[in-house]
Formats: sequence, structure tokens, C-alpha cells
Amino acid sequence: MSLPIADAFSQTDSLEDPLELMDEIDQLKKEKDATILAHYYVDGEIQDIADFTGDSLKLARDATQVTTSTIVFAGVHFMGESAKIMNPEKRVLIPDLLAGCSLAESCPADELAAFQEQLRAQGRQFDTVAYINTSAAVKSLCDWIVTSGNAREIIDRVPSDREILFVPDQHLGRYLMEVTGRRMILWPGSCMVHEVFSIQDLIRAKRKNPDSIVIAHPECPQNILEISDFIGGTERMRQYVMSIAEPKTILVATESAMIHAFQKAAPQHAFVPVPGIMTSTGETCACNRCPHMARNTLQKVRDCLRNEGPQIEWQDYFAKARDVLNRSLLK
Ligand code: 13P
Repeated sequence: MSLPIADAFSQTDSLEDPLELMDEIDQLKKEKDATILAHYYVDGEIQDIADFTGDSLKLARDATQVTTSTIVFAGVHFMGESAKIMNPEKRVLIPDLLAGCSLAESCPADELAAFQEQLRAQGRQFDTVAYINTSAAVKSLCDWIVTSGNAREIIDRVPSDREILFVPDQHLGRYLMEVTGRRMILWPGSCMVHEVFSIQDLIRAKRKNPDSIVIAHPECPQNILEISDFIGGTERMRQYVMSIAEPKTILVATESAMIHAFQKAAPQHAFVPVPGIMTSTGETCACNRCPHMARNTLQKVRDCLRNEGPQIEWQDYFAKARDVLNRSLLK
């Protein structure tokens, strides 16, 4: 799905009072028998009204525990899609259908199928391991699905006599090769947010705060991970900052909305977002905010409940994706 990026940050709410919107959402949730799930990368005010917050792995599992007939998934399209696939009997609403993912876009299903065919024609024996940041059509072509939270365990489940084709995040794949010792064929995709962290800015920020700790998501390029003190998906990072009792300055190399969840979980620390690349005018861009996640607003959460749409419609290939998602995330 291609997103007009320039539009993404202009999706601001109208001048509706956020507190009134929150009350309305609360009321609609009861009327429509709905549960709200929100990823750590959506705006803090949406995280605050959600019934469940978490990383991709926790939310996929939480969705299977929901007892209401409707799920509202405040995140990006592949997350709502996975929730629908794993809970076919539920209605899954998403606040904005255009909230896509640069990683998912980098790996179209037809290109993956053609590449797999090439490898098979060479007689290669391989399992395809897909990051959850992919479309359901891609998932239906794969043997395993990983999130940043369970990738190491899943890689260990791939028989050692089989090669691994890892799609679509080359940085996460390279990091997994390092920590698991498995060689992989890497798809050349990357996340538009994690790709842009500037190593110079990070080094400068570290010099300014010599006692600081750097935490980074494994979707970051190698040069950022090399100077990080802790590498982990969003939930692991949250657990890590909670485990440090002494107040620290923590430099954060991931989507900046995550800082809301960190501050709630570990208010003793000061969290500093790592800036992105310099623009041509010498300023640092605000590219550590994902324009897709930013499409989620309180108003759109209210509207999707009120309008009972947009929703994820069941597709034939979801059945195949369901087997691989359940086997990978629930066992
Ligand atoms: P986690 O949710 O696994 O931390 O990954 C973040 C992400 O890529 C969301 O799109």
C-alpha cells in the first residue's frame, strides 16, 4: 500500500476537545462491544485510552484473549490484518486504512514468490522467515513469522540443515545472524524510521551526556547498534528501562512515541529521542516519528467506532497466513 507521506502529518484532529473525544470513545466502546489495542508507537493519548498496549508480539497475543465482538487496532495495517487472521470471527476496525508500513511495502508478494522460485530452481533447501511487518499475502508464502520479541526463539526452531531466507528487514536479519550464528539470505528492505538515525547525532548526544545509556531497536542499521548499550524490541526496551532503579539519561533510537510508554513505566529516567539525519538546511528532521503510525488520531478512533469502519475484510489467502501466524506466535 503506498502512502502519500507528505499528507501523513497533516492528519491532525479538528479542534475537538481531547477529553470529550475520550469520553465519547468510552461510551462507543460499550455500545459497540469493542476493545481497543494500541501499539507503543501511536500517540500517547491513544495509548492512554487503550485496553491493551504493547509491542507487535504482545498485541497479537492479546487480540486472541479479547472477549468483545469488535477489536479496534490502533497501529498499522499489517497489525489489524494479523488480528483479523488470528480472530476470524471478530470484527477488526482500524482508524485509518492508509496506515501502512515501509517494510511491508518493500516486499511485494509476487516478487517474493518469484525469488523463492529462483532459489528452488537452484535446488536450495530453505525456510522463509518473515518479520511480522509484512502483508498477509507475504505471510501466506512463509514458513515462520517473527516479531522483534520472539525472533531468536523462532530462528532456533528452523532445522539447522535448512537455509533461511529472511524478509523483509535487512537490518533485523543481519542482527539475528549475529546473535543466532545462522547464515541468512536477506531481503533488502528497511524501516523508514529506523533507517534514518544519524550516527553523528548519536555520538554528539552521547558526548553531551557521558553517563547516558543508549537503547536501540534491532531495525536500526549496524552502526547505530554497535554503539548501543541495549538492543531490543519495544517491549524488551520497556522492561529494560524499568529494571534500572537509579535515574539515568536514556538516549532512545526508535520511534519517538515510544517515549510515552517509557515515561509511564520508568518515570525516574530522562528520555532523549535520538535525532534523525540532517536536512539540506542543516536542521535535524523529525523523521523518528512514523508517518503511518501518526495517522492514528483520537478522532479517527472515535470515527471508526461510530461508523463501524474501516474494517479488515477476510481474504482467501488469510487461511494459509493463519496457520503460520498461530504456529509462530502462539506456540
Ligand atoms: P515491535 O513491536 O516488535 O517492537 O516492532 C516495532 C515495529 O516494527 C512496529 O511496526
